Amino acid sequence: MAEIKERKIPQHVAIIMDGNGRWAKKRGLPRTMGHSQGAKVVEQILEDADHMGIKYLTVYAFSTENWSRPKAEVIALMNLLRAYMKTSLPKCAKNNVRIRVIGDRSKLDQDLQDSIQDLEEKTKTNTGIGFQIAINYGSRDEIRRAVTRLAKEAKDGNLNPDDITEETISDALDTAGIPDPDLLIRTAGEERLSNFLMWQLSYAEMYFTDTAWPDFTKEDLEKAVDAYNHRERRYGGLIQ
Ligand code: IPE
Ligand code: IPE
Ligand code: MG
Repeated sequence: MAEIKERKIPQHVAIIMDGNGRWAKKRGLPRTMGHSQGAKVVEQILEDADHMGIKYLTVYAFSTENWSRPKAEVIALMNLLRAYMKTSLPKCAKNNVRIRVIGDRSKLDQDLQDSIQDLEEKTKTNTGIGFQIAINYGSRDEIRRAVTRLAKEAKDGNLNPDDITEETISDALDTAGIPDPDLLIRTAGEERLSNFLMWQLSYAEMYFTDTAWPDFTKEDLEKAVDAYNHRERRYGGLIQ
């Protein structure tokens, strides 16, 4: 493990956890079994990320487009999220994890909204890893909501449109106060953003792996971080 110490650790890692359905199908299991296995993996990867020194982990759990899936699958996914919100407090307390849900939660069932609020409230002073869970999240929808809010502030005379900076916009997003991801990982062989953090990922390094999310391990995370270490981040400038 000495090797890890020499690695440059990205401060913020974002993950598009993909391939749960295919993982299950390959084993002759219902898709929902892939999701429940995937949920276990997230908890393990959160711990691994924390141990590696990653400060923020953001995972895509449910997109604004995922409502178009069969009703039973949507319910199964919501129930997994429900279970997580209800049972993870002791672990978050023990590991000093701070939870934030990003996305439009107003469309979620009231009891789920309540347990999200409760978990966020009870972990908000934790000083360890920041764990963002994207639920009913879509980047375009997030930007739309931010623009609406800023437009209202301008209309009310509390914001001069000429004073809108990139920072103003960042601060109006669900990820306000969280540094942009340095590394994006997408599993299961797909290489697209699927409406995830489009503003925030402007300069992230992208890492794609064929591994399906339920098979993703600490070793896969380390491989992604290793790949990140071989990238040269230029931000449009030149390397000396
Ligand atoms: C990712 O796995 C989990 C969610 C989108 C909620 P998928 O369910 O997309 O799995 P595949 O892509 O169908 O294999
Ligand atoms: C993206 O995965 C959303 C989540 C991981 C929650 P999808 O499987 O829904 O995305 P597409 O359909 O392949 O673009
Ligand atoms: Mg998928």
